[in-house]
Amino acid sequence: MADWASWGLILTVCVACILVVKTDIKVNTPMGQLFVFELQREIFQNDFEPFLHHYAGKVYNDPMLFKCNKQAFPDLPGWLRFTQRHPYDNGFLYGTPLVQEKTIIEITVINKRSYDTFRDRLIIRIDPPEKRLPYQAEFFIPLREIEKVLPSAVQEEIRQDLKRIWKTDQLTFVNITSALDRGGRVPLPLAGHFEGVYVKVGSDQRFSECLLRLQTAEHKRQCEAGGRVPGNCAVCSYPSNCVTWCNSTLIDVSSPVAFSPAPTMGPGILDAEGVYDPPESPPPRDFLPDYIVTVIVPLVLAIILCLLLSYIMCCRREGVEKRDSKTPDIQLYHHHTIHGNTTELRSMAAGRGVPPPLSTRSMFNARTGETAPPFQTDSPSIPLILAQQEINTDTLPRN
Ligand SMILES: *[C@@H]1O[C@H](CO)[C@@H](O)[C@H](O)[C@H]1NC(C)=O
Ligand SMILES: *[C@@H]1O[C@H](CO)[C@@H](O)[C@H](O)[C@H]1NC(C)=O
Repeated sequence: MADWASWGLILTVCVACILVVKTDIKVNTPMGQLFVFELQREIFQNDFEPFLHHYAGKVYNDPMLFKCNKQAFPDLPGWLRFTQRHPYDNGFLYGTPLVQEKTIIEITVINKRSYDTFRDRLIIRIDPPEKRLPYQAEFFIPLREIEKVLPSAVQEEIRQDLKRIWKTDQLTFVNITSALDRGGRVPLPLAGHFEGVYVKVGSDQRFSECLLRLQTAEHKRQCEAGGRVPGNCAVCSYPSNCVTWCNSTLIDVSSPVAFSPAPTMGPGILDAEGVYDPPESPPPRDFLPDYIVTVIVPLVLAIILCLLLSYIMCCRREGVEKRDSKTPDIQLYHHHTIHGNTTELRSMAAGRGVPPPLSTRSMFNARTGETAPPFQTDSPSIPLILAQQEINTDTLPRN
């Protein structure tokens, strides 16, 4: 069974390999800023063949699943996350690139009605950072879920509110994270319970006085005490976009902008023009003692045991003479007579060609040569005799 399972897996992988790539989608995004790509079901819907051609005029709304992975890798790159709540919802790829590189994402689209499948490629070119964002702050929006925040219209609504708190127009999203990715709890599946979303924004403008209040010890004390916090200057035009004042934090981005440092090169990495100098191969090792201990010694032991056993079995046999000398004479005589009688009977049986005398045959009519029907008798012995005799009559020459 395990074999079949693995063959099935290989087959699936191969089928996945030969899925043709239909479209290449190219996007650019600056490093250090939030990147969101919405996988819109209506667009992918048009790429599927209409299931029944004579309904071609109908607008389809098929459930779809998206599987995303980095090209030639099983998963997405570390900075990119994917979410799709339901096959009837759009999917979102989102994250904050911190390294400037070209990333190719394979998007496998599975139509859950027709099970048609095709693959698109999303080529993300990550550009150098547009501008430095030395001032960053993170806000917690409790009444939202990640998919509801990622559409650009909602992002814009949230940005408008935050602009009013920050008192600037230069606000950029740096990161949006579901609270579940930060150790939050999955809410009850009830209306009015949400996962919550963290929104990190950055700007090159200083924090407003109101935001600076978040850093004061007084603010901390008031939040710990609970209840209404007097310094709250959070505003929201839609109740679901309101941020929790006590969970807002200012982030100290030590200038210059803290991108992850380039990896430091360890030893063993060639300079641009260097010549590879292979290390000395290790000194040859003598395997003879190991060989003797593991192979030769057991082999010799096995041969000795084999010889010993052959000697006992073949050369130490005691033979017929010893048996005869140990057996009492009367028993030997008995044995010999049985042998002799058997041989005599055998030789007699061999000379059975002559017809047996008539008297040994069953009753028969002397004129017609007809054999009498077997006796109807209860005695079990008679039918046996008759049967024997009938066989004999069959071998007799007639008349
Ligand atoms: C964005 O948030 C995720 C999840 O909390 C985190 O892993 C990632 O490092 C963050 N990226 C940036 C640029 O802050
Ligand atoms: C919000 O802040 C309060 C107090 O600072 C803390 O107890 C709570 O865990 C925070 N909630 C989240 C979701 O971060």
